[in-house]
Amino acid sequence: MQPKALPGFRDFYPADLALRAHIFRTWRTVATRYGFEEYDGPPLEPLELYTAKSGEEIAGQLYSFTDKGGREVALRPEMTPTLARMVAARANGLRKPIRWFSIPQLFRYERQQRGRLREHFQLNCDLIGEPGPLGDAEIIALAVDALRALGLGSADFRVRLSDRRLLNRLLELLGLRGDQVGLAHQALDKIGRGESAGRQQALLDAGAPAHAIESLDSFRQLRNLSEVEARFPQAAQATAPLRATVTALDAMGLGGFVDLDLTIVRGLAYYTGTVFELFDAKAELRAICGGGRYDNLLQALGGVDLPALGFGMGDVVLAELLRDRGLIPGEASSIDVFLAGITEDDLPHVLALTHELRDAGLRAEYALSSQAVGKQLKLADSRRARLAIVIGPDDRARGEVMVKDLAGKAQSSIARDAVLGHVAGMVAGFTTEAQRTVPLW
Ligand code: HAM
Repeated sequence: MQPKALPGFRDFYPADLALRAHIFRTWRTVATRYGFEEYDGPPLEPLELYTAKSGEEIAGQLYSFTDKGGREVALRPEMTPTLARMVAARANGLRKPIRWFSIPQLFRYERQQRGRLREHFQLNCDLIGEPGPLGDAEIIALAVDALRALGLGSADFRVRLSDRRLLNRLLELLGLRGDQVGLAHQALDKIGRGESAGRQQALLDAGAPAHAIESLDSFRQLRNLSEVEARFPQAAQATAPLRATVTALDAMGLGGFVDLDLTIVRGLAYYTGTVFELFDAKAELRAICGGGRYDNLLQALGGVDLPALGFGMGDVVLAELLRDRGLIPGEASSIDVFLAGITEDDLPHVLALTHELRDAGLRAEYALSSQAVGKQLKLADSRRARLAIVIGPDDRARGEVMVKDLAGKAQSSIARDAVLGHVAGMVAGFTTEAQRTVPLW
């Protein structure tokens, strides 16, 4: 029996889960600010959902098997095909544009490397039914804001933006045709990662002109649309959608986060227009987020002609970046109030008040075995309680309990009848929403 989790799978100890909850809470807050509604789908899907349209890379990483009913199934490696299927099935009844988000756990049998595991969580935000460039700006703005809300700024991460429509026009102007276009996409993708030699040879072998391959190499120097138009005047029309998207992002005050980068192609096969990825500004880590427009996928998977675009933002690289920038929230207290009894006879009173406090929504705890008050208060400290209530025979005789502020060390006797309201007021005073642990599901 192997006592460890499988390679690429994580155990979430409470501190890890607190960070995950912080990321999820922030993602949900930002997505709902943009009017997005949450959905989910099954974690296990028919295999063909991914072999049909996702592309070779994902198909090669599937956790797939034959179930007991003889069906070929796979754990979901991404959310987009599920979303496309769900929307296509009810397309007529849904108000457009559809703004939906989800935070699925996804599974890919990836080669082990920094920032890539075999399971991860991914915020998916998708906008369906909007063909225009303002939709692209809205989706990119949402991705940027999801990171800004976690405390990251334009010196921490960058959006690298491209457009397959523009790229394909440039490739056409360079004289590339048919299969050469797909090979050129792969070569550009590798140029972006500094490992293009093999792909360039494949292009040469496919009959691509040598000057076109040299030009591809220089694409990464084109840093804005004016430079693209200056070099390829005949591509001016093809720059229009991206220009409109960038202009809208500028108007939102987010232009400073975005760089044109024609080496961003995206591995997934279904993208048809704008494509983008978010990276840490030092470009040391793998992508934090990737997305784009996929106007034909709903047609292919559900027979419904609806334009769509969106992104997936993973939790793995993001958590690394937050850690690197010191943006992990401090340890929140586990409980609000610790109750201690001085004598054995106080125990029923401790239990009764604990129960009242819990009913009132406060997080309350007490020692499960009888021990000296000093030891009980030590336990209160180790649980990071902000308040302690000490119940003893003398206070009880006066109809009072002792309330101690464990941070400020102040203490006062409070009437037993008034203690609930008193303690609730104190806790509300020093517990901010961000410090509280909100259940995830
Ligand atoms: P993707 O580029 O495959 O896109 O994944 C999006 C993000 O998920 C990546 O940038 C990365 O942060 C994270 N990610 C992917 N694989 C792993 C892994 N093995 N370990 C850790 N993190 C990972 C998609 O999945 C598209 N379906 C996104 C999309 C939604 N496009 C349109 N709508």
